[in-house]
Amino acid sequence: MIRTATPEDAAFVSAVGVASGMFSADDTSVTDGMMVAYFAGNQDAGHVCFIDELEGASECVAMAYVEPVRATEGTCELLMIAVDPRYQGQNRGTSLVRYVEDWLVRRGQRLLLVQTSGEDSYARTRAFYVKLDYEPAARVADYYAPNVDMVMFRKALTVPLST
Ligand SMILES: CC(C)(COP(=O)(O)OP(=O)(O)OC[C@H]1O[C@@H](n2cnc3c(N)ncnc32)[C@H](O)[C@@H]1OP(=O)(O)O)[C@@H](O)C(=O)NCCC(=O)NCCS
Repeated sequence: MIRTATPEDAAFVSAVGVASGMFSADDTSVTDGMMVAYFAGNQDAGHVCFIDELEGASECVAMAYVEPVRATEGTCELLMIAVDPRYQGQNRGTSLVRYVEDWLVRRGQRLLLVQTSGEDSYARTRAFYVKLDYEPAARVADYYAPNVDMVMFRKALTVPLST
């Protein structure tokens, strides 16, 4: 079941960020700060944090966070997506991205961007976006650190067939 986050989910967001290898266990300041700012006002400014929870078990297994890009018309960025490693490869990430896309397009958003690393260790993550019809749009050399490039993907959002 996919739903929007409540303050009780903040700890899970940081925990899954660490468990999925995106952040180190001794520095959860990025996710901690993101969730504090979310409930302090960013939620009202159009940011949305989604939580995927096991049906009936109230166990959180994945999250995604999206925000509008300033000074654009209908462009958003998927800032973070992470699936608990025990549940990766089970279509949860795909379902979550599709849910986010659907949620955005129903609110008039038209373009979704996502940044990820160009490192070899992120090859499967890049493949994930390509499978979901994202196209590589830009590569910024040395973005995250020396020799660690950023790859930006884009997807034009279209109205779901079911509407
Ligand atoms: C990337 C991620 C969100 C994908 O979610 P998922 O639920 O594992 O993926 P799905 O089951 O929906 O789709 C599977 C496809 O995603 C890709 N994939 C990426 N990472 C994967 C992983 N750790 N395990 C399995 N598939 C993965 C593969 O292309 C796979 O297709 P394949 O089985 O044909 O190889 C998730 O694996 C994850 O949290 N990874 C670590 C954190 C991360 O990289 N986040 C994105 C940062 S920009």
